[in-house]
Amino acid sequence: MWRASVLTIFPDMFPGPLGGSLAGKALAAGAWSLAVVDIRSFATDRHRTVDDTPAGGGPGMVMKADVLGRAIDAASADERPRLLLSPRGSPLTQARVEALARGPGALLVCGRFEGVDERIIAARALEEVSAGDYILSGGELAAMVLIDACVRLLPGVMGAEASGAEESFREGLLEYPHYTRPQVWEGRPIPDVLLSGDHSKIAAWRRAEAERLTRERRPDLWAAFLQRSRSGSRTG
Ligand SMILES: C[S@@+](CC[C@H](N)C(=O)[O-])C[C@H]1O[C@@H](n2cnc3c(N)ncnc32)[C@H](O)[C@@H]1O
Repeated sequence: MWRASVLTIFPDMFPGPLGGSLAGKALAAGAWSLAVVDIRSFATDRHRTVDDTPAGGGPGMVMKADVLGRAIDAASADERPRLLLSPRGSPLTQARVEALARGPGALLVCGRFEGVDERIIAARALEEVSAGDYILSGGELAAMVLIDACVRLLPGVMGAEASGAEESFREGLLEYPHYTRPQVWEGRPIPDVLLSGDHSKIAAWRRAEAERLTRERRPDLWAAFLQRSRSGSRTG
């Protein structure tokens, strides 16, 4: 079973949205498990302190390495990757999500305040992972994003297994547009080709649309796609 352990000072935030919809059903069905660890319970003083002022001065507070270290040690007696949600980390990609979903699960450390004492990252070999180039108030929502993205890929979780096969990013391209009935809505028709019944024409149209959208919206992905296609055609 794929196992997520989340270390947080706000354990009540979980399972939150992970308790509903696809992930929630899969959790109830035992396709994955969620252990939520309250970092505060590893504090040793009567105020259950988890943070302190930054060495060198400056605003805000920093999560203490000693408390986090005890929490991580108690939660990670196995081979799962240990991830720290952090805006400084590598941005989470579908490729990383797929790799994580193939593995045994993940231990996710949620930062708060200004962040965590730098020493815990090296001492516990935490891999920093970012949900994107913006600042959240804590790692919990980022952890939920990562878990949701992984859980939907677990065997048996997505209703139609095929629905994951053609999604955005699978081939480094954004996905083609979707349509469903009514055939004309507010004067806007479904493109004729999708009603033609000609599967090879439909596939070619979808492919061309995926390429157009990627070229227009994500020049970074488009450049990487072209690079891969060129080296693929050289080696192939
Ligand atoms: C207010 S943020 C700290 C931001 C930090 N002072 C900085 O400027 O990089 C508190 C915590 O939220 C989490 N966090 C914020 N933005 C994130 C993001 N884009 N991806 C993943 N985690 C994030 C991290 O765990 C971080 O330690």
